[in-house]
Amino acid sequence: MENKDIYILGIESSCDETACAIVKNGTEVISNVVLSQIDIHTKFGGVVPEIASRQHVENITLVIEECLNKANMNFDKIDAIAVTRGPGLIGSLLVGLEAAKTLAFVYNKPLVPVHHIMGHIYANNLVKPIKYPALCLVISGGHTELVLLTEEYEFKVLGTSLDDAVGECYDKVARVIDIGYPGGPKIDKLASLGEPNYNLPIPLNDDTYNFSFSGLKSAVINLVHNELQRGNTINKEDLACSFQDVVSKVLVKKTQKAIRDYGVKYFITAGGVAANSKIRKELSDLCEKENIEYSFPEISLCTDNAAMISAAGYFAYKKGQVSGLEINAFSTTDLK
Ligand code: KG4
Ligand code: ZN
Repeated sequence: MENKDIYILGIESSCDETACAIVKNGTEVISNVVLSQIDIHTKFGGVVPEIASRQHVENITLVIEECLNKANMNFDKIDAIAVTRGPGLIGSLLVGLEAAKTLAFVYNKPLVPVHHIMGHIYANNLVKPIKYPALCLVISGGHTELVLLTEEYEFKVLGTSLDDAVGECYDKVARVIDIGYPGGPKIDKLASLGEPNYNLPIPLNDDTYNFSFSGLKSAVINLVHNELQRGNTINKEDLACSFQDVVSKVLVKKTQKAIRDYGVKYFITAGGVAANSKIRKELSDLCEKENIEYSFPEISLCTDNAAMISAAGYFAYKKGQVSGLEINAFSTTDLK
């Protein structure tokens, strides 16, 4: 296996992106197709699970075909099929999983189930190979976690969110100030135009590696309601900036503690919120200050895609994590 190039075809359908990719040796993207449903869900202010799974059914075959066409490849050259098994929306996951099982059966290829968060983490490997041990701050729509990667595809979770995930908090705050869905990129943009003039509490400002974002979300909601009741207008740019400041402060503080406590020399980040300009800047400043090496995923590969699933799938495959066709999807599960 060491000498031969390994091509993994990955499929991702856990939320509102239908995606397929081919990655060589867990490092090189050969083809990457992502069909986003954002325009459809925007009308409803968030992802509607039933609509999402119907869209996946309509799109999955087209996306897989386009991925192979772009790579100018057929299944002869594919070594294994990797697929997101969970967590995510169950109806959405099942579409990708059934497609992967069908391909594995028809073309007689190994089926490699991948945890969605391992996918996000291994998006980093598409920039440069991760050096172990590495600390990863996972910040997505469904997860906020500090993960210590002890060696290739082995990890230990140091801390997690006790309630809302950071991306979820971004989306809810965006909804309260009425700037639309998905909130993260919109708040990111607005914040760059504002000043941190609103006073918001730093959530779970303690010495653990855990996070909490529901209190911050409530603080923003209360602030907006109180201001409106008083007949004041909200300065959305300033509120976005104040909110983002507090979020990045707590992320940096907990990351710094983990870097120091574990003597970490290599830092990575992962998930949709890792696309955030302020958070990327603060985390890179932190690594410079701590004098450690770091690398972040490409912005386009921070949010859901299948290249990350193929990359993680390569390492899972190398470890022999191949499964039978009877496996089911799971909607919730921790990285453990
Ligand atoms: O990782 P992801 O695609 O989905 C999950 O696996 O959960 O992350 C989606 C989340 C959404 O909450 C979205 O608002 C957030 O990532 N996001 C951002 C940015 N781009 C996407 N949050 C902050 N700043 C951004 N630039
Ligand atoms: Zn994701």
